[in-house]
Amino acid sequence: MNTAEQIKQIRQFSYKKMVTDHTGHNFDHIERVVKMATRLSKEEKTDKLITLAAAYLHDVADDKLVDDPAELEIEIKNFLKSIELTDDQIDEIMYITHNLSFSKSLSKNPPKLSLAGQVVQDSDRLDAIGAIGITRAIYYGGANAETIYDPSIAPREKMNKAEYRNLDNETIINHFYEKLLKLTSMMNTPTAKNIALHRQQFMYEFLNEFQSEWLSEI
Ligand code: ADP
Ligand code: NI
Repeated sequence: MNTAEQIKQIRQFSYKKMVTDHTGHNFDHIERVVKMATRLSKEEKTDKLITLAAAYLHDVADDKLVDDPAELEIEIKNFLKSIELTDDQIDEIMYITHNLSFSKSLSKNPPKLSLAGQVVQDSDRLDAIGAIGITRAIYYGGANAETIYDPSIAPREKMNKAEYRNLDNETIINHFYEKLLKLTSMMNTPTAKNIALHRQQFMYEFLNEFQSEWLSEI
């Protein structure tokens, strides 16, 4: 099977797995991550099949979305084998999808990603910031019955992996300080960093307006 056909099949597999999700991981998130990964892959000259496969599959076995991520990982591996990827290619893709999450990067020894992995991680993080990032945070917060904002709950800006994963009392606005505003300085590639700086500026403007309106100042 040629590479173009393999990518088409991977897209189809991802679509079937993601299309029913309503937590902000819908397939449109995947399509934007793939588009950005395509752009960054050209800049950074990473392997196209590895980069796009990891982008398409990065949320399929997310433990927030499925009960048994390990089972899903086996299913993904079997699928990749069935479309004739080599064991090395499969291992590289699975390593990326297993290790790119924000919570993993908060652990004591954050996993080291290949350049293709860094490109996919940047693409996923870029989709969490800017206008789309704001929309996704509100969408996620609504789906999870979060309060919009509560000035009596201070954002917990320094957290380890376990603390981040067990947050209670989360508010949508606190999520900006606990995750979204940290992502720009965590970008791996220079192109992603530049895009992130622009998107971050917009988030600061949004938060300033939000505060002023909350206090009835404007
Ligand atoms: P991804 O790795 O695709 O960004 P996440 O599961 O971390 O996936 O988050 C999905 C979306 O929901 C992201 O835009 C993220 O910022 C947002 N989100 C995650 N947790 C929260 C939360 N507690 N409150 C508001 N938004 C959240
Ligand atoms: Ni994602």
